[in-house]
Amino acid sequence: MNITVIGAGYVGVTTSIAFAEQGYHVFVVDSDKEKLEKLNHAILPFYEEGMEEILKSLLEQQQLIFTNNIQDAVRQSEFIYIAVGTPPLPSGAANLEQIEQVSKAVGSALQEYRTIVIKSTVPIGTGEKVEFIIKEQLNLRKKDIKFDVVANPEFLREGSALHDALYPDRIVVGCENVRARQMMEKLYQHSKAPILFTNRKEAELIKYASNAFLATKISFINELARVSEELGVNISIVSKGMGMDKRIGADFLRAGIGYGGSCFPKDTRALLAMSSEVGMPLKILDAAVGINETQVTWFMKKISNLFGSLEDKHIGVLGLTFKPNTDDIREATSLKLIKELLLHKAIVSAYDPKSTALVKTIYPEIWITTDPLDAINNVDAAILVTEWDEIVHMDWKEARRRVRQPYLFDGRNVLEPKKMAEYGFYYEGVGVGNLRKENLHG
Ligand code: UGA
Repeated sequence: MNITVIGAGYVGVTTSIAFAEQGYHVFVVDSDKEKLEKLNHAILPFYEEGMEEILKSLLEQQQLIFTNNIQDAVRQSEFIYIAVGTPPLPSGAANLEQIEQVSKAVGSALQEYRTIVIKSTVPIGTGEKVEFIIKEQLNLRKKDIKFDVVANPEFLREGSALHDALYPDRIVVGCENVRARQMMEKLYQHSKAPILFTNRKEAELIKYASNAFLATKISFINELARVSEELGVNISIVSKGMGMDKRIGADFLRAGIGYGGSCFPKDTRALLAMSSEVGMPLKILDAAVGINETQVTWFMKKISNLFGSLEDKHIGVLGLTFKPNTDDIREATSLKLIKELLLHKAIVSAYDPKSTALVKTIYPEIWITTDPLDAINNVDAAILVTEWDEIVHMDWKEARRRVRQPYLFDGRNVLEPKKMAEYGFYYEGVGVGNLRKENLHG
């Protein structure tokens, strides 16, 4: 069976590679010729460990073809996946321009029955919209061709994208009739993951609800961390104790300086916009988004309280990407933190193993290095923002020798406070509060 995947972004490329790995022939369609040229040479537009090697071998086996010829790809494929971007509008709602364009293109390319599957994260009711646009195109062409539109949201995480696409916890398939369901059953016949069949709108909402719930879980623990700090309680131990309850689960319960990325911030705001549109604004989610938006400011207060003024203080930021094992800095906490540090007139240096060039263009006044020790040379405080292995396991003994003042802020609660104290650091995590003045000078 052949599959066409439209959109060569993170989700589109990963989905294509996962299908190709399962033995399907995949046409990946995109309008960006430069991107296609690179992909044809196994150069990915994003960083994902080990993926370029897999892509290279799939290209050699001709399991995957990158093309801008949508007509041809649609003609040769039983399934047409739509995996284009749905970026946010100023209101927070998802912009469906690309989805609409692609639907029109599919409508004008259709020659016989096809199953059209929406992989992009789309607002509830988009499946219907896509169906309508395709029908319109067919009417214009005076063709009566049968097709189905299915919702099959993606749950992969950056940094473990291919693993998540190949071994998902569950596959959610939203379809409106038996034929579409049978087609999807055939497509996923070799998959070991449980498949949940729903209607289209339910599948669309499952995607938003899952991301919103995970984001809320993080904001819950982050807000509790603020309280813990006042109560003198260690939030990491509290998370551990809570997470051992299977009903709660330990994942996404790690306090930190906030979540970022291209998904949680965008999808939570989109769901908020949708809920307001129907007159039922989601209050818990609204609070979760608010907590995330102020988490960096709360964290910054700890730093500025310590120094009084940050003017001309040299601060080393460790980690720039929104999470480890990606080169993505979209909505990264580091960017908000650096902005605040610069507003307080601090001198900033930074380290990241993967994302330096783009950050340099955003903040040309900061010095970015690819050596974590250089980034904290002579600093008054070091702040761990992204828990890259290169940072967590750096030579902290040597780091202590390099800094001017040994203040260490762990924005992800990943370092061992005791060990750091042994090296001579004044360690401060999130929801721990070790560096309080009374502790320091008490
Ligand atoms: C997220 C979801 O986890 C995926 O299931 C989903 O498919 C994807 O969005 C999407 O919609 O495309 P992703 O954004 O790649 O995946 O990354 P996550 O691992 O979820 O991390 C998101 C943010 O939460 C990061 O900034 C991370 O540092 C933060 N986080 C995560 C915490 O602050 N605490 C935690 O305990 C876990």
